[in-house]
Amino acid sequence: EAIYLKDYQVPAFLIDHTELRFELEASRTLVKARLTMRCNPDSHQKTRVLELQGDKALRLCRVSVNDQVLNEQDYKRHDQGLEISHVPDEFILETVVEIDPDQNTALEGLYRSDGIYCTQCEAEGFRRITFYLDRPDVMSIFSTTIEADKTAYPVMLSNGNPVAQGEADDGRHWITWEDPHPKPAYLFALVAGDLKRVEDQYTTSGGRDVALHIYAANKDLNKLDYAMQSLKNAMRWDEEVYGREYDLDIFMIVAVDFFNMGAMENKGLNVFNTSCVLASPDTTTDLGFQRVEGVVAHEYFHNWSGNRVTCRDWFQLSLKEGFTVFRDSEFSADLNSPTVKRVEDVTVLRTAQFAEDAGPMAHPILPASFIEIANFYTMTIYEKGAEVVRMIHTLLGADAFRQGSDLYFSRHDGQAVTTEDFVKAMEDASGRDLTQFRNWYHQAGTPVLAVSDEFDAASQTYRLTVAQSCPATPGQAIKAAYHIPVAIGLLDSEGEDLVLPNGKTTQVLELHDSEQTFEFTGITEKPVPSLLRGFSAPVKLHYPYTRDNLTFLMSHDSDGFNRWEAAQKLAVNILQALIEDFQHGRELVLDSQLGDAFKVVLANVDLDKAMVAKVLSLPSEAYISELSDVIDVDAIHTVRQFVRQQLALQLEAEFVASYQACTLEDIYSPDAASIARRSLRNVCLSYLMETGKQDFLELALKQFHEANNMTDSQAALYIVVHSGYQKAGEVILDQFYQRWSDEPLVVNQWLSVQASNPQAGVLTHVEALMNHEAFNMRNPNKVRSLIASFCAQNPVNFHAIDGSGYRFLADQIIVLNKLNPQIASRLVTPLTRWKRYSADRQGLMRKELQRITDSGDLSRDVFEVVSKSLA
Ligand code: ARG
Ligand code: ZN
Repeated sequence: EAIYLKDYQVPAFLIDHTELRFELEASRTLVKARLTMRCNPDSHQKTRVLELQGDKALRLCRVSVNDQVLNEQDYKRHDQGLEISHVPDEFILETVVEIDPDQNTALEGLYRSDGIYCTQCEAEGFRRITFYLDRPDVMSIFSTTIEADKTAYPVMLSNGNPVAQGEADDGRHWITWEDPHPKPAYLFALVAGDLKRVEDQYTTSGGRDVALHIYAANKDLNKLDYAMQSLKNAMRWDEEVYGREYDLDIFMIVAVDFFNMGAMENKGLNVFNTSCVLASPDTTTDLGFQRVEGVVAHEYFHNWSGNRVTCRDWFQLSLKEGFTVFRDSEFSADLNSPTVKRVEDVTVLRTAQFAEDAGPMAHPILPASFIEIANFYTMTIYEKGAEVVRMIHTLLGADAFRQGSDLYFSRHDGQAVTTEDFVKAMEDASGRDLTQFRNWYHQAGTPVLAVSDEFDAASQTYRLTVAQSCPATPGQAIKAAYHIPVAIGLLDSEGEDLVLPNGKTTQVLELHDSEQTFEFTGITEKPVPSLLRGFSAPVKLHYPYTRDNLTFLMSHDSDGFNRWEAAQKLAVNILQALIEDFQHGRELVLDSQLGDAFKVVLANVDLDKAMVAKVLSLPSEAYISELSDVIDVDAIHTVRQFVRQQLALQLEAEFVASYQACTLEDIYSPDAASIARRSLRNVCLSYLMETGKQDFLELALKQFHEANNMTDSQAALYIVVHSGYQKAGEVILDQFYQRWSDEPLVVNQWLSVQASNPQAGVLTHVEALMNHEAFNMRNPNKVRSLIASFCAQNPVNFHAIDGSGYRFLADQIIVLNKLNPQIASRLVTPLTRWKRYSADRQGLMRKELQRITDSGDLSRDVFEVVSKSLA
C-alpha cells in the first residue's frame, strides 16, 4: 500500500508536448489528448511497456499510437491506469476519454460546481482527467483547446496565452491556450463559466507588461480589489527581495466556492477558494483580509518556488511549500507588523504542528513513505518546513541566504528537484556546512531544549548550558542531535541588553551537541536570559523562569516576540497551577500578579495595540492542551474561564478605558494600525462581558448593530453567543442570518460561531444546522465551518464524556469518505489524538475510529489516517 522515497526511479518515458481538447458537457465531457512522447535517455529501465496513470472513472473511448488504433489485446486497462505493451522510441499517443464533472464530488480533477467548470490537479488529480504520466518530474509543453456552450460558458481559461478562438455549431464556441513553459501535469488548469473579471496591469522591473485578471461570479465583482492590490504588492516584493520577475504576459486568478484547500498555483491561472480571495469591509473580517493578502502572495510566489523550479516527486513537497510559506510570511511581516505576524505563526505552529508531531501521523518534512499524498499537505510540510527554511536564513544571514536562493533558482530553473538540491545551493553559495542541519529534513518530532545557567561572580563568568533531546515518533525511536540556532540576549537588572561577544545585543548560539555550554565573560551581575528570540527554532524550550523573571521580561525584553512570550509563559504557569488546584478539588484563587502585569501593558501607550491584544489574550485551550501530559478538557476550560472572569473584575475600568480609546472613525481600512485597534477593542469587550454586567451586554449589542464592518459585528456576535446570553444570542444570530443569507462566506462565519459555542447542549443545535438550507455536505467550506468548527474549536462539547461528539464526527466521516475523501480524512484529526486523553475518553475515541474502519470501503485517504491512529 505504501510508497517509499527510496524506490524513486526516473521516468521511463517523457512527454514533450501535450495537446488537450476538452468538449465540455455536463455529464459527459470528452477529453482528447495528443501526447508527443519518447523514451527517457536518462532511464536505465529500457522498457517498451508504457504505464500511464488514469483513474478508474475514466471511460476510455479510443487509444492510438502513431495513428494506429489499438485493439484490446494491445493494452491493459486496470483500476489505476493503462498499460500499453509495446511502443517505439518516439511516438504520438492519442486517447479519447469521457468523464463526468457533475458526479465529481471529490473536487479533484475536473468538476463543475455552481455552474462553473474548474480543475484541481495537485497532487494527483490530472489522472482523473486523462491517461498520463502523472508525476511532477515529467514536464511538458501544454496546448489546450476548450469547447463549450457559449451562453453558459462565455469565459474559458487555461494556462499561458490565448492563441486562437472561434465559433462552433449548436451555439458553442472554442478557444486555444498555449503555455510556453514546460510544466508537470499538477500545474495544469482549466476554468469555464459565466464569470466576470476585474483587470489591472503590472510592469515588471525588466519591462514586461503583464495583464492581471481576477475572475469571480458577477455578484462578487466588488470584492476583488484587495486581492488585486495584494497581487501587485507581491509581484513587486518578489522582485525586490528575491530578484524574481513574472514570466508570462497574463496572470489570472479565479474564485470558486467549492474547493478542498485554500488555493492552487496553476501556471498563470491560479484557482482560489472564495474564502482566500474575496474581501470587502461589509463581509470580511480583518483576519479574512490578512488571509487574502497572504494566500494571494503565497500562490504568486509559487511561480518561482514551485513552478519554474518544481518537485522531483511528492516526497519533496516541502521543497516548494516550506520555502513558499517562509516567503509569504516574510512578505506579510514586511507589509504589516513583523512581531505580530511572528506571534501568529508561532501560535499556530505550537498548537497544531507540535500536536501533529506528537501524534500517530508524525512525519519528517521530507517523509520516507506515504499511502496517500493528499494526507501530507500538513502543518509539518508547510509550517515546520517554513521554520526549517527560516533557520537556514538565520544561520546564513540575509545576504548569503539571498545568494543561495539566487543560485538555487538559476541552477535548477526548469527542473524538478529535491530538498537536497535546495540545501546544497544554500551550502555552495554560503560556504557553510549544513551536513548536520539536514537532520531537520529526515527526523520527525519536536526537539526539546533544557536550558540551565550559572553565574560565577569571582570570574565574572556566565554560563548557559543547553541540552537537546527529541521524543520518539512512529518508526523513529532514536534521533540524532540537531543543529539548532538559538538566538539569545542577556538583560541586566535595569532591563538593558548586555553587549554580547558578537558586538551586538542578540547573538545566535549554534547548538550541535546533545549538551553544550556557552560561556560569557566580563559579566558583573547575574543576567536574565532572553532565550530563543524571535522563536529562532521550532523547539520546546524549558528554563526555570520565576514569575518575577517573566514580568520583568514582559516589560524590558528588547525582542518584541519574547516580550509576548514572557506573558504567555506567565499565563501558562498560572493556568497550569490552577488546573492542578481544580483537579485536586481545591478552591480556585487568582492572585493579582497577572492582572497587575496586564495593567502595566494596557497603560503603556507606546506599545503596538495588536501586541497588547495578543498579550492580553490568554493561551488558547488548544495550546494548554498541547502542553498537558493528559488533556483534562473540562479543567482547562473551567480554569481559563475563571481566570478571564477574575481579570475582567480586576481590570474592568482599564478595559472600558481601552475599549473607548480604540474606537475608530467611520471609514474602514484593513491597515495594520486599524486592525490593531479593532483587535484590542474586541479583546476588551470580550473581557467586559465576563463580568456578567448588563451594561456590557448592551455595549456588545450596540456594537453589533452599529458596526460598519464585519470584524466588529462578527466579534460582537461571537462574544454575545459564547458568553451564554442565550436569548440575546438567538435574536442577533437570526438578524445576522437574515441580513447575510446571500453571502456564503458570511454564512460560514455564522455557522462557525454557533458550532464553536462552548455552552452546553450545542451538539443538538449543530445537528439541526446540518439540515439548514445554509448547509451543504458537498461544499468543503460548509463542512469546515460547521463540522470542523465543532470538533476542533469546541473542546468541551466535542469531548463530552458521553461520547456524543465523537459519535457525531465518525458518522460524518463515514458519509464524507464516499463524497470527498480529502475532506473526510482531514476531519479525522481530532480523533487521532486519542492517546492524549484520559482512559475513558481514549476508549470512546478508539471505538469511533474502529467504527470508521468497520464501515468498509475506506478511501486511501481515510484508511491511512485511521489505520495509523489505531496502530
Ligand atoms: N499547492 C497548493 C498550495 O499550497 C495546495 C494544493 C493542495 N491540493 C490538494 N489537493 N491537496 O498553495
Ligand atoms: Zn503552496
